[in-house]
Amino acid sequence: VRVFVPRDAAARSVGADEVAERVAAAATANGVAVEVVRNGSRGMLWLEPLVEVETLEGRVGYGPVAPEDIDGLVAAGMLTGGGRSEGAYLGLVEELPWMRRQQRLTFARVGVIDPRSADDHAQYEGNAGLKQALAMTPSEVVEEVVSSGLRGRGGAGFPTGIKWRTVLAAESELKFVCCNADEGDSGTFADRMLIEGDPFTLIEGMTIAAYAVGATEGYVYLRSEYPDAIEALNAAIVAARSRGWLGENILDSGLDFDLHVRVGAGAYICGEETSMLESLEGKRGMVRAKPPIPALEGLFGRPTVVNNVLSLATIPTILANGAPAYAAYGMGRSLGTNVFQLGGNVARGGIVETAFGITLGELVNELGGGAASGRAVRAVQVGGPLGAYLPVEQFDLPMDYEAFAAAGAMVGHGGIVVFDETVDMSAMARFAFEFCAEESCGKCTPCRVGAVRGVETIDRIRNGEDRKKNLVLLDDLCDLMTDGSLCAMGGLTPLPVRSAVRHFGKDFGE
Ligand code: NAI
Ligand code: SF4
Repeated sequence: VRVFVPRDAAARSVGADEVAERVAAAATANGVAVEVVRNGSRGMLWLEPLVEVETLEGRVGYGPVAPEDIDGLVAAGMLTGGGRSEGAYLGLVEELPWMRRQQRLTFARVGVIDPRSADDHAQYEGNAGLKQALAMTPSEVVEEVVSSGLRGRGGAGFPTGIKWRTVLAAESELKFVCCNADEGDSGTFADRMLIEGDPFTLIEGMTIAAYAVGATEGYVYLRSEYPDAIEALNAAIVAARSRGWLGENILDSGLDFDLHVRVGAGAYICGEETSMLESLEGKRGMVRAKPPIPALEGLFGRPTVVNNVLSLATIPTILANGAPAYAAYGMGRSLGTNVFQLGGNVARGGIVETAFGITLGELVNELGGGAASGRAVRAVQVGGPLGAYLPVEQFDLPMDYEAFAAAGAMVGHGGIVVFDETVDMSAMARFAFEFCAEESCGKCTPCRVGAVRGVETIDRIRNGEDRKKNLVLLDDLCDLMTDGSLCAMGGLTPLPVRSAVRHFGKDFGE
């Protein structure tokens, strides 16, 4: 019998390791031969630890399961997929409404496979995308990515294929592929879950990128706050090298590409691509002025692909199934699927991979089940700490880069943080400036000084001092930061501030 207990950090934080040990012990005590597989998480975080038992009908789930529940569940028949009368019994995992609502392409294997097993990767059509790519010319691969419509999932939404075209066309004997895994946005965890749950797919995506643009070396810039992801990726790289999936002569194609993990040191700004490159070069993480763009002068001044984890991990499915299959999902210019992350005060938090076009309300209320507190939802912040706050009146907004931009918001990296009716939005606006003051790299004045002045101005508004005058001042400051900051840190901080003032004026004394 194969029993799956996630190794994902979110599952481990609620006792998955002990659950795994208890399952093994209970099986031995009952004389049942069990293989405990430590898979990634399916993304239904409120059900973790989620135990799955393989049966002829499919995988039967039990969750959330506490270590002390195991003996009772085993006695009720869990190891054969039984135990219907037990509270934790969920039935077939693939049939759960949360799973059926999704279109899992990037996350197809997350939660399904053993992330430490190269055999599993191969068995679940691993490297199908890479093999397809190697049968094409590099420029055909680039054009396939262009026509898939894939846009940068790190947040900016720049077309991935166009970026690759620039790197391919750049003349240089040395080029790099860098994966930005410095997932710093509050309320985002998709990069982590992908790396912990299916690291081989990221490796495959980076290898395809290397082939497409002519790069020989790759780096994954992974944040130190993700120790489990660091371990999972390093283990996968070692296994991939031993299988000939990395190194010289990949899959006997003559392709030469190797990959290294570099661990960050906790600065949010190192998620900005140019500071990430500075940090990779061993320097302090300071933003570089653009142009030149990294596609032309990136790591050590060489042409460099810088893509987010999710963008790169989506490449294998695009190549394996063809660009039209991917572009068939989504709406407008937001094609394919995105991995949305529900967090904050939400009843059912976790990962939802679905085609663009699903509305904010469907995600928060139907999938998320509203606020965890049971109170009414009042606001959501979409796209991390630099994203806008939206009121429930805008819950019919479709997840689409252009629709969000038109509403003065951004999809960003797809994180959705939920707040209930007790939230004080002036405190959230203050937090936006505080965060910027804390994380600013200090290179430009509008951000370095503006953030501090912003905290002071909001404090005066909150204290009722010269409210009108200070709101005008706040508006001026936001204009200055938007227009005068060198990067998105200072440039986007006005987004949460202004949206809070616009939609929740009452909290600012209106
Ligand atoms: P950007 O719009 O300046 O650039 C987007 C990407 O396109 C960059 O990689 C840039 O080098 C590339 N690019 C632009 N023109 C190009 C051309 N002609 N050829 C090739 N490549 C080209 O945006 P930026 O500053 O890189 O990112 C800002 C976004 O980052 C925000 O919208 C926010 O959503 C997101 N963000 C994500 C975080 C996370 O944790 N994932 C944290 C903070 C912000
Ligand atoms: Fe640094 Fe802020 Fe300027 Fe960005 S906007 S370069 S983080 S000081």
